[in-house]
Amino acid sequence: ASHEFCDAGMGYNVVGCGGSDSSSRRILIKGGTVVNAHHQEVADVYIDDGIIADVKPNIKKSHLQVGDEVAVIDATGKFVMPGGIDPHTHLEMEFMGTDSTETIDDFFSGQAAALAGGTTMHIDFVMPVNGSLSLGFKAYVEKAKKSCMDYGFHMTITKWDDTVAREMEIMVKEKGINSFKFFLAYKGIVMINDELLLEGLKKCKSLGALAMVHAENGDAVFEGQKRMIELGITGPEGHALSRPPLLEAEATARAIRLAGFINTPLYIVHVMSIDAMEEIAKARKLGQRVVGEPVVSGLVLNDSGLWDPDFNIAAKFVMSPPIRAPGHGRALQAAVSMGVLQGFHVVPENTGKSAFGKLVGTDHCTFNSTQKAFGIDDFRKIPNGVNGIEERMHLVWDTMVASGKISVTDYVRITSTECARIFNIYPKKGAILPGSDADIIILNPNSSFQISSNSHHSRSDTNVYEGWIGKGKVEITIVGGRIVWENNELKVNLGSGKYIKMPPFNYLFDGIEKADVSYISSLRAPVNRFKAMQ
Ligand code: URP
Ligand code: ZN
Ligand code: ZN
Ligand code: ZN
Repeated sequence: ASHEFCDAGMGYNVVGCGGSDSSSRRILIKGGTVVNAHHQEVADVYIDDGIIADVKPNIKKSHLQVGDEVAVIDATGKFVMPGGIDPHTHLEMEFMGTDSTETIDDFFSGQAAALAGGTTMHIDFVMPVNGSLSLGFKAYVEKAKKSCMDYGFHMTITKWDDTVAREMEIMVKEKGINSFKFFLAYKGIVMINDELLLEGLKKCKSLGALAMVHAENGDAVFEGQKRMIELGITGPEGHALSRPPLLEAEATARAIRLAGFINTPLYIVHVMSIDAMEEIAKARKLGQRVVGEPVVSGLVLNDSGLWDPDFNIAAKFVMSPPIRAPGHGRALQAAVSMGVLQGFHVVPENTGKSAFGKLVGTDHCTFNSTQKAFGIDDFRKIPNGVNGIEERMHLVWDTMVASGKISVTDYVRITSTECARIFNIYPKKGAILPGSDADIIILNPNSSFQISSNSHHSRSDTNVYEGWIGKGKVEITIVGGRIVWENNELKVNLGSGKYIKMPPFNYLFDGIEKADVSYISSLRAPVNRFKAMQ
């Protein structure tokens, strides 16, 4: 293995690099409450060579192959759950201009932070290089060589021509990408227009790939920003004031209607406002295949930090769409618990087409205070993004489970299982079942966690959740069958993470063709249809 990344492990305990190490490959987790999205029970979990070999009560060490080293973990009174999967991250991303604004966490530090917080897989957004998907993919394959946990890729589409269309097909058929993101904001940088969105939606549909949108009206945001500058509002609060919820709602509604017109599933990333959430709820009630992704910052924070007189504090909260006024977060939490954004009405797995996703991401996109300070005189230049990859599992447990809003099985569904289903890698990921990857966390509900930039594992010098103390603690993280987080210590294995190919045609596509056939026949034979209804 190449050793060029070994230095990336400074400050972490890197036990191996690019290969295997001597730690036990067999682990027996005894007596914990094993939780899957549909069921929980006290059971033992036996891990062999990175895979879950057995899940049942009372597995005796003596029953396992003799002579084997087996590490035994007592999980009595604790929850044994699938490791978290974060559907939305931006590691080592060049964004909003120069490379000095590359996000500060790379595939090593970001993933190490993730593992310390109980997340064992993430899906990152590949940015094309000069519009080229294949060059973008190549660049991300390089970046990801430092990985210490498994990862997948979404691909961002920033322009349209025949080459892009052809490359989308290659990405899906050969490279393991099954989702494409379109930015309706960031005018002049990555924003696309409706014509491109329609082309993209059609292409996604034909490939069985999930279309994703960043939903804000970028032209109106541009206008809002001009307004703020004219009014002399140049600080971070101008960021929120320039792009109010109605601009998020407008773009959300527009994207939903265009996806409905094409009849293809749609995934709205980082839903931050009641206004946008209600557009999604309305479409879902009408039976449209729309997934809304809340992110942890939108669920648990409010915009008060943006008014902090200390620029360094205010700027760290700048992300898009903005963190909203108090009330939005609470409404989004309620939407998650009631299944408004993604129904979790229990529909049998095999009729999954009417069961929609239910998941929480982070949009981890971290810039340190030096980078945020590019915008000290003009909020438009503050690089957008907040942390979360390390904090998500704890914050969702604290605000949703410890507070009684959702069950532990729902917790597993929204932090892991549903993401695996939507991106078509279930049950390899997102489950504690024989044959699944041994990406597992052990959470102690009677312990507590504390968040601070002094102790977090991100490279950033700030944390938007600074000072948060909450219930529940991820005490052990196992990734690929290895214990990497225990006793508040990380022992990550540089280069051990694998790229997870994600196949197209997830369950949201079930029945799409039938809907198309009935749409076409409804155009051709309205009279017959009318008669049939008599
Ligand atoms: O502010 C944000 N959200 N930064 C990351 C890029 C994006 O829009 O997802
Ligand atoms: Zn090495
Ligand atoms: Zn976005
Ligand atoms: Zn993002």
